[in-house]
Amino acid sequence: MGDAVRHLLSAADLSREEIFFLLDAAAALKRRPQRLLEGRELALLFEKPSLRTRVSFQVAMRHLGGETIYLAPQEVGLGEREAIQDVSRVLARYVDIVAIRTYGQEIVEQYAKYSGIPVINALTNEEHPCQALADLLTVREKLGDDLRGRSLAFIGDGNNVASSLVIVAASLGMDVRMAAPRGYMLPEAVITEASARAEEAGGSLTLVHDPVDAVSGAELLYTDVWTSMGQEREAERRRIDFVGYQLNRELVSRAAPGALIMHDLPAHRGDEITDEVMESEGSIIFDQAENRIWAQAAAVAFLLGVAPQIEY
Ligand code: CP
Repeated sequence: MGDAVRHLLSAADLSREEIFFLLDAAAALKRRPQRLLEGRELALLFEKPSLRTRVSFQVAMRHLGGETIYLAPQEVGLGEREAIQDVSRVLARYVDIVAIRTYGQEIVEQYAKYSGIPVINALTNEEHPCQALADLLTVREKLGDDLRGRSLAFIGDGNNVASSLVIVAASLGMDVRMAAPRGYMLPEAVITEASARAEEAGGSLTLVHDPVDAVSGAELLYTDVWTSMGQEREAERRRIDFVGYQLNRELVSRAAPGALIMHDLPAHRGDEITDEVMESEGSIIFDQAENRIWAQAAAVAFLLGVAPQIEY
Protein backbone atom coordinates (compact mmCIF):
# COMPACT_ATOMS: atom_id res chain seq x y z
CA MET A 1 0.00 0.00 0.00
CA GLY A 2 1.09 3.54 -0.64
CA ASP A 3 1.15 5.03 2.88
CA ALA A 4 4.22 7.19 2.20
CA VAL A 5 2.95 8.42 -1.16
CA ARG A 6 1.67 11.99 -1.31
CA HIS A 7 -1.81 12.53 -2.78
CA LEU A 8 -3.97 15.58 -3.54
CA LEU A 9 -7.49 14.43 -2.76
CA SER A 10 -8.74 17.55 -0.98
CA ALA A 11 -7.63 21.16 -0.82
CA ALA A 12 -7.19 20.45 2.89
CA ASP A 13 -4.37 18.02 2.04
CA LEU A 14 -2.18 21.06 1.35
CA SER A 15 -0.73 23.12 4.17
CA ARG A 16 -0.77 26.89 3.89
CA GLU A 17 2.93 26.86 3.02
CA GLU A 18 2.37 24.24 0.31
CA ILE A 19 -0.42 26.31 -1.23
CA PHE A 20 1.91 29.33 -1.42
CA PHE A 21 4.63 27.12 -2.90
CA LEU A 22 2.30 25.64 -5.53
CA LEU A 23 0.98 29.05 -6.56
CA ASP A 24 4.53 30.39 -6.87
CA ALA A 25 5.58 27.28 -8.80
CA ALA A 26 2.57 27.54 -11.12
CA ALA A 27 3.36 31.18 -11.88
CA ALA A 28 7.02 30.28 -12.53
CA LEU A 29 6.05 27.45 -14.89
CA LYS A 30 3.70 29.78 -16.72
CA ARG A 31 6.49 32.34 -17.17
CA ARG A 32 8.98 29.69 -18.26
CA PRO A 33 7.85 26.08 -18.79
CA GLN A 34 10.41 23.56 -17.50
CA ARG A 35 10.78 20.00 -18.80
CA LEU A 36 10.80 18.48 -15.34
CA LEU A 37 8.98 15.24 -16.09
CA GLU A 38 10.69 13.74 -19.16
CA GLY A 39 9.56 10.14 -19.52
CA ARG A 40 6.93 10.40 -16.77
CA GLU A 41 3.36 9.29 -17.46
CA LEU A 42 0.08 10.62 -16.05
CA ALA A 43 -3.09 8.52 -16.34
CA LEU A 44 -6.37 10.42 -16.52
CA LEU A 45 -9.03 8.08 -15.17
CA PHE A 46 -12.30 9.89 -15.82
CA GLU A 47 -15.77 8.63 -14.97
CA LYS A 48 -17.48 11.92 -15.88
CA PRO A 49 -17.18 14.21 -18.92
CA SER A 50 -14.62 17.03 -19.01
CA LEU A 51 -13.26 19.70 -21.30
CA ARG A 52 -10.93 21.84 -19.16
CA THR A 53 -9.59 19.28 -16.72
CA ARG A 54 -8.72 16.66 -19.30
CA VAL A 55 -7.16 19.00 -21.85
CA SER A 56 -5.30 21.15 -19.32
CA PHE A 57 -3.71 18.08 -17.68
CA GLN A 58 -2.66 16.83 -21.12
CA VAL A 59 -1.20 20.19 -22.12
CA ALA A 60 0.47 20.57 -18.71
CA MET A 61 2.21 17.20 -19.04
CA ARG A 62 3.35 18.06 -22.55
CA HIS A 63 4.89 21.30 -21.27
CA LEU A 64 6.66 19.30 -18.54
CA GLY A 65 8.04 16.80 -21.07
CA GLY A 66 5.81 13.97 -19.87
CA GLU A 67 2.92 12.08 -21.41
CA THR A 68 -0.68 11.19 -20.60
CA ILE A 69 -3.03 8.27 -21.08
CA TYR A 70 -6.75 9.10 -21.08
CA LEU A 71 -9.22 6.53 -19.79
CA ALA A 72 -12.74 7.63 -20.68
CA PRO A 73 -15.98 7.04 -18.74
CA GLN A 74 -17.24 3.48 -19.47
CA GLU A 75 -13.68 2.15 -19.99
CA VAL A 76 -12.50 1.14 -16.54
CA GLY A 77 -15.65 0.85 -14.43
CA LEU A 78 -14.14 1.65 -11.03
CA GLY A 79 -15.75 -0.67 -8.49
CA GLU A 80 -18.07 -2.15 -11.12
CA ARG A 81 -16.06 -3.88 -13.83
CA GLU A 82 -13.18 -4.22 -11.40
CA ALA A 83 -12.52 -3.59 -7.70
CA ILE A 84 -11.07 -0.16 -6.94
CA GLN A 85 -8.04 -1.61 -5.16
CA ASP A 86 -7.22 -3.80 -8.18
CA VAL A 87 -7.43 -0.91 -10.66
CA SER A 88 -5.27 1.16 -8.32
CA ARG A 89 -2.54 -1.47 -8.03
CA VAL A 90 -2.52 -2.26 -11.75
CA LEU A 91 -2.30 1.36 -12.93
CA ALA A 92 0.57 1.98 -10.50
CA ARG A 93 2.57 -0.65 -12.44
CA TYR A 94 2.12 1.30 -15.69
CA VAL A 95 2.25 5.01 -14.92
CA ASP A 96 3.83 7.46 -12.45
CA ILE A 97 0.78 9.42 -11.28
CA VAL A 98 -2.98 9.33 -11.78
CA ALA A 99 -5.70 12.00 -11.85
CA ILE A 100 -9.20 10.70 -11.15
CA ARG A 101 -12.57 12.30 -11.90
CA THR A 102 -15.33 10.34 -10.24
CA TYR A 103 -18.38 10.52 -7.97
CA GLY A 104 -17.99 10.23 -4.18
CA GLN A 105 -14.88 11.40 -2.35
CA GLU A 106 -14.70 7.95 -0.75
CA ILE A 107 -13.83 6.49 -4.18
CA VAL A 108 -10.61 8.53 -4.54
CA GLU A 109 -9.81 7.88 -0.87
CA GLN A 110 -10.24 4.14 -1.34
CA TYR A 111 -8.19 4.29 -4.57
CA ALA A 112 -5.38 6.25 -2.90
CA LYS A 113 -5.24 3.82 0.01
CA TYR A 114 -4.01 1.12 -2.36
CA SER A 115 -1.99 3.32 -4.70
CA GLY A 116 1.78 3.19 -4.83
CA ILE A 117 1.77 6.37 -6.92
CA PRO A 118 0.32 9.85 -6.26
CA VAL A 119 -3.41 10.32 -6.85
CA ILE A 120 -4.93 13.68 -7.77
CA ASN A 121 -8.60 14.51 -7.33
CA ALA A 122 -9.66 15.82 -10.75
CA LEU A 123 -13.18 16.43 -9.37
CA THR A 124 -15.38 14.47 -7.03
CA ASN A 125 -18.86 15.32 -5.79
CA GLU A 126 -17.22 16.90 -2.74
CA GLU A 127 -14.06 18.67 -3.97
CA HIS A 128 -12.24 20.17 -6.94
CA PRO A 129 -8.81 21.17 -5.56
CA CYS A 130 -7.14 21.67 -8.97
CA GLN A 131 -9.78 24.23 -9.88
CA ALA A 132 -9.22 26.13 -6.63
CA LEU A 133 -5.45 26.32 -7.21
CA ALA A 134 -5.98 27.67 -10.74
CA ASP A 135 -8.53 30.15 -9.42
CA LEU A 136 -6.20 31.56 -6.78
CA LEU A 137 -3.34 31.67 -9.28
CA THR A 138 -5.63 33.82 -11.44
CA VAL A 139 -6.62 36.05 -8.53
CA ARG A 140 -2.95 36.59 -7.64
CA GLU A 141 -2.24 37.61 -11.25
CA LYS A 142 -4.99 40.22 -11.05
CA LEU A 143 -4.61 41.52 -7.48
CA GLY A 144 -1.02 40.70 -6.54
CA ASP A 145 0.55 37.89 -4.54
CA ASP A 146 -0.50 39.09 -1.10
CA LEU A 147 -4.23 38.40 -0.91
CA ARG A 148 -4.65 38.99 2.83
CA GLY A 149 -7.88 40.87 3.45
CA ARG A 150 -8.97 40.86 -0.20
CA SER A 151 -12.67 40.04 -0.52
CA LEU A 152 -14.04 37.08 -2.45
CA ALA A 153 -17.78 36.34 -2.51
CA PHE A 154 -19.07 32.98 -3.72
CA ILE A 155 -22.75 33.09 -4.68
CA GLY A 156 -24.56 29.79 -5.15
CA ASP A 157 -24.37 26.14 -4.24
CA GLY A 158 -22.01 24.95 -1.48
CA ASN A 159 -20.69 22.35 -3.88
CA ASN A 160 -17.31 20.77 -4.69
CA VAL A 161 -15.94 23.92 -6.35
CA ALA A 162 -17.05 26.16 -3.48
CA SER A 163 -15.62 23.78 -0.87
CA SER A 164 -12.12 23.63 -2.35
CA LEU A 165 -12.17 27.35 -3.14
CA VAL A 166 -13.00 28.52 0.38
CA ILE A 167 -10.33 26.26 1.90
CA VAL A 168 -7.62 27.63 -0.40
CA ALA A 169 -8.79 31.27 -0.22
CA ALA A 170 -9.05 31.12 3.58
CA SER A 171 -5.52 29.69 3.73
CA LEU A 172 -4.30 32.84 1.96
CA GLY A 173 -5.94 35.11 4.55
CA MET A 174 -8.72 36.38 2.29
CA ASP A 175 -12.06 37.83 3.40
CA VAL A 176 -14.17 34.94 2.10
CA ARG A 177 -17.94 35.27 1.93
CA MET A 178 -20.39 32.55 0.95
CA ALA A 179 -24.05 33.10 0.10
CA ALA A 180 -26.22 30.02 -0.42
CA PRO A 181 -29.91 29.27 0.04
CA ARG A 182 -30.91 27.33 3.16
CA GLY A 183 -30.06 23.67 2.62
CA TYR A 184 -27.29 24.43 0.11
CA MET A 185 -24.56 25.81 2.40
CA LEU A 186 -21.06 24.34 2.56
CA PRO A 187 -20.63 21.05 4.45
CA GLU A 188 -19.87 21.50 8.17
CA ALA A 189 -16.43 19.86 7.82
CA VAL A 190 -15.47 22.38 5.14
CA ILE A 191 -16.69 25.30 7.28
CA THR A 192 -14.62 24.04 10.20
CA GLU A 193 -11.50 23.56 8.06
CA ALA A 194 -11.79 26.90 6.25
CA SER A 195 -12.57 28.81 9.46
CA ALA A 196 -9.48 27.39 11.17
CA ARG A 197 -7.32 28.29 8.20
CA ALA A 198 -8.81 31.79 8.00
CA GLU A 199 -8.06 32.35 11.67
CA GLU A 200 -4.47 31.14 11.26
CA ALA A 201 -3.93 33.35 8.18
CA GLY A 202 -5.68 36.45 9.54
CA GLY A 203 -8.63 36.17 7.16
CA SER A 204 -12.30 35.41 7.65
CA LEU A 205 -15.13 33.17 6.47
CA THR A 206 -18.63 34.68 6.52
CA LEU A 207 -21.69 32.57 5.71
CA VAL A 208 -24.94 34.28 4.72
CA HIS A 209 -28.14 33.48 2.88
CA ASP A 210 -28.69 36.88 1.27
CA PRO A 211 -26.44 37.26 -1.81
CA VAL A 212 -26.47 41.06 -1.45
CA ASP A 213 -24.84 40.72 1.99
CA ALA A 214 -22.07 38.61 0.44
CA VAL A 215 -21.31 40.74 -2.62
CA SER A 216 -21.55 44.10 -0.86
CA GLY A 217 -18.22 45.84 -1.58
CA ALA A 218 -16.57 42.55 -2.66
CA GLU A 219 -13.64 42.67 -5.11
CA LEU A 220 -14.18 39.19 -6.54
CA LEU A 221 -17.52 37.57 -7.34
CA TYR A 222 -17.58 33.82 -8.02
CA THR A 223 -20.43 31.58 -9.05
CA ASP A 224 -20.94 28.05 -10.33
CA VAL A 225 -23.77 25.98 -11.76
CA TRP A 226 -26.75 25.39 -9.49
CA THR A 227 -26.99 21.77 -10.61
CA SER A 228 -23.72 19.83 -10.71
CA MET A 229 -22.99 16.64 -12.67
CA GLY A 230 -25.08 13.79 -11.27
CA GLN A 231 -27.78 16.08 -9.82
CA GLU A 232 -29.71 16.54 -13.08
CA ARG A 233 -32.93 15.18 -11.56
CA GLU A 234 -32.87 18.07 -9.06
CA ALA A 235 -32.47 20.75 -11.74
CA GLU A 236 -36.04 22.10 -11.65
CA ARG A 237 -36.16 22.18 -7.83
CA ARG A 238 -32.81 23.97 -7.75
CA ARG A 239 -33.90 26.59 -10.32
CA ILE A 240 -36.63 27.55 -7.86
CA ASP A 241 -34.45 27.38 -4.74
CA PHE A 242 -31.72 29.55 -6.31
CA VAL A 243 -33.98 32.40 -7.46
CA GLY A 244 -32.19 35.62 -6.45
CA TYR A 245 -28.72 34.04 -6.59
CA GLN A 246 -28.04 34.88 -10.25
CA LEU A 247 -24.89 36.89 -10.89
CA ASN A 248 -26.48 39.67 -12.95
CA ARG A 249 -25.96 43.39 -13.50
CA GLU A 250 -28.03 44.30 -10.42
CA LEU A 251 -26.08 42.02 -8.06
CA VAL A 252 -22.71 43.05 -9.55
CA SER A 253 -23.65 46.71 -8.98
CA ARG A 254 -23.54 46.03 -5.20
CA ALA A 255 -19.90 44.90 -5.38
CA ALA A 256 -16.76 47.06 -5.32
CA PRO A 257 -16.28 49.18 -8.47
CA GLY A 258 -14.41 47.10 -11.05
CA ALA A 259 -15.16 43.82 -9.25
CA LEU A 260 -13.79 40.76 -11.04
CA ILE A 261 -16.14 37.98 -12.15
CA MET A 262 -15.22 34.32 -11.74
CA HIS A 263 -16.74 31.00 -12.83
CA ASP A 264 -15.07 27.61 -13.14
CA LEU A 265 -17.12 26.61 -16.23
CA PRO A 266 -19.05 25.06 -17.79
CA ALA A 267 -21.62 27.82 -17.18
CA HIS A 268 -25.37 27.65 -17.60
CA ARG A 269 -25.78 31.12 -19.09
CA GLY A 270 -29.06 32.63 -18.00
CA ASP A 271 -29.22 30.57 -14.80
CA GLU A 272 -26.44 31.32 -12.30
CA ILE A 273 -24.87 34.04 -14.48
CA THR A 274 -26.12 36.28 -17.27
CA ASP A 275 -24.50 36.53 -20.70
CA GLU A 276 -23.89 40.19 -19.99
CA VAL A 277 -21.90 39.54 -16.80
CA MET A 278 -19.95 36.65 -18.36
CA GLU A 279 -18.91 38.86 -21.24
CA SER A 280 -18.30 41.95 -19.10
CA GLU A 281 -14.95 43.72 -18.83
CA GLY A 282 -14.41 42.39 -15.30
CA SER A 283 -14.73 38.74 -16.32
CA ILE A 284 -11.58 36.70 -15.64
CA ILE A 285 -13.36 33.42 -16.34
CA PHE A 286 -11.24 32.37 -19.31
CA ASP A 287 -8.03 33.27 -17.47
CA GLN A 288 -9.14 30.81 -14.79
CA ALA A 289 -9.62 28.13 -17.46
CA GLU A 290 -6.15 28.80 -18.94
CA ASN A 291 -4.50 28.66 -15.54
CA ARG A 292 -5.67 25.11 -14.99
CA ILE A 293 -2.61 24.15 -17.09
CA TRP A 294 -0.11 25.80 -14.78
CA ALA A 295 -1.71 24.99 -11.45
CA GLN A 296 -1.88 21.33 -12.41
CA ALA A 297 1.65 21.31 -13.85
CA ALA A 298 2.87 22.56 -10.46
CA ALA A 299 0.76 20.02 -8.57
CA VAL A 300 1.93 17.05 -10.66
CA ALA A 301 5.60 18.04 -10.31
CA PHE A 302 5.18 18.63 -6.56
CA LEU A 303 3.53 15.25 -5.96
CA LEU A 304 6.29 13.53 -7.94
CA GLY A 305 8.87 15.26 -5.76
CA VAL A 306 10.25 17.47 -8.52
CA ALA A 307 10.56 21.14 -7.62
CA PRO A 308 10.28 23.77 -10.35
CA GLN A 309 12.84 26.57 -10.25
CA ILE A 310 11.14 29.67 -8.87
CA GLU A 311 12.79 33.02 -9.54
CA TYR A 312 11.37 35.54 -7.09
N1 CP B 1 -14.06 23.39 -14.54
C1 CP B 1 -13.93 22.11 -14.95
O1 CP B 1 -13.49 21.23 -14.19
O2 CP B 1 -14.27 21.90 -16.25
P1 CP B 1 -14.47 20.46 -16.93
O3 CP B 1 -15.64 19.81 -16.23
O4 CP B 1 -14.73 20.75 -18.38
O5 CP B 1 -13.22 19.67 -16.72
